[in-house]
Amino acid sequence: MPAKIRLGILGGGGDSLIGVLHRVAAHMFDAYEITGAVFNPNHEDSLAFARELGIPTDRIYPDFDTLIAEELKLPESERIQVCSVQTPNFLHFPMAKKLLDNGFHVICEKPMTTTYEEAKILEEAHKKAGTVFALTHTYTGYPMVRQMREMIASGVLGRIHKVDARYYQGWINPIIHDKAKRKSVWRLDPEKAGISSCMGDIGVHAFNMVEYTTGLRVKSLLCDFNYMYDDNLMDVDGTVLIRMDDHVKGVIRSSQVATGEENGLAIAIYGEKAGLRWEQENPNFLYLLSDTQPLQVYKPGHAYNSELSLDGTKLPAGHPEGIFDSMGNIYKGAAKAIRGEKYDEGEFPTMTDGVRGMNYIEATVASHKGGNIWVDMD
Ligand SMILES: NC(=O)c1ccc[n+]([C@@H]2O[C@H](COP(=O)([O-])OP(=O)(O)OC[C@H]3O[C@@H](n4cnc5c(N)ncnc54)[C@H](O)[C@@H]3O)[C@@H](O)[C@H]2O)c1
Repeated sequence: MPAKIRLGILGGGGDSLIGVLHRVAAHMFDAYEITGAVFNPNHEDSLAFARELGIPTDRIYPDFDTLIAEELKLPESERIQVCSVQTPNFLHFPMAKKLLDNGFHVICEKPMTTTYEEAKILEEAHKKAGTVFALTHTYTGYPMVRQMREMIASGVLGRIHKVDARYYQGWINPIIHDKAKRKSVWRLDPEKAGISSCMGDIGVHAFNMVEYTTGLRVKSLLCDFNYMYDDNLMDVDGTVLIRMDDHVKGVIRSSQVATGEENGLAIAIYGEKAGLRWEQENPNFLYLLSDTQPLQVYKPGHAYNSELSLDGTKLPAGHPEGIFDSMGNIYKGAAKAIRGEKYDEGEFPTMTDGVRGMNYIEATVASHKGGNIWVDMD
């Protein structure tokens, strides 16, 4: 058993949404140990949370700059190897950049930065650093999403015609109509979230799923946002027409005001020979649709699945696995890369996905603000 990877955590405190997902994922394959952290901006809160988790408090630092300075004083054999950035969006870039510049591996939440320009700067820093950078587009870790990617790559759909990705949530509906409530949500604050709420928070996941599963790239797009109120600066709903090729077209629909929707991410890809459909809220079912055959349902853990899919399944078929396992698979892939072991490029999203994601978010905003015009992606 190789030594555990020394993991630092930034953000993800006891008050956060996503922290528990990362902590469970990191422990899932016994590959990491939490060695240090800044869980919250308030040091006392960070220390209290570390005690609650049973983590020694000597490397729970008051802030990020102190973490870097103190860790660099330690011999490499003791130093944190990888930091996981789980803070609100505006801190991803400064944290990830300084980590890369100082030779750390990075696991980073999406959206990778708040601007496309920052994303490109980070890409350069990553090239210089030569360390591992994993971006946690969580949904790519699901065995049936990996299976979808592999089936499309092996030609099961034939020539692709149509792409349809949808990410619908409803949680902003009770907030958006009340000006005071809006102020309490960082995702609606451009200073903290960047230029987009809906597209930056969830539309970018749907975009990533489209490129991850098809292996194709979005070339141009046309976006129509809904801000709901003239004095609300951030999109809370957006519909995007996409062109991946002259004859491969589709739509990415995302909303935070789809009342009553929970975490409705779904993707369907249709081709000449067949179609494939997957929904996040029922992640263990992948549907294969055909003109000539009855509907087929693929499920995880069966030998008929691809190696990449099977690598993401821990238990025999029929034992449902979910979002924790999906994030666990991304941490597992990153661990292989950090240890210099062989891994499949579908095991975790990378810097390239982060740069594409920021290009997409900025292109949607440019399209909407330009009067719903077609905008090319790089
Ligand atoms: N991959 C996914 O599916 C997914 C899901 C949800 C959120 N996210 C992303 O995760 C990130 C965090 O989202 P969230 O919903 O958990 O946010 P949150 O507001 O619930 O939690 C943010 C945490 O960061 C801490 N924090 C804030 N400033 C800090 C600082 N300067 N130093 C250290 N800690 C600090 C806060 O105290 C809190 O614990 C966002 O970028 C979001 O887009 C990703």
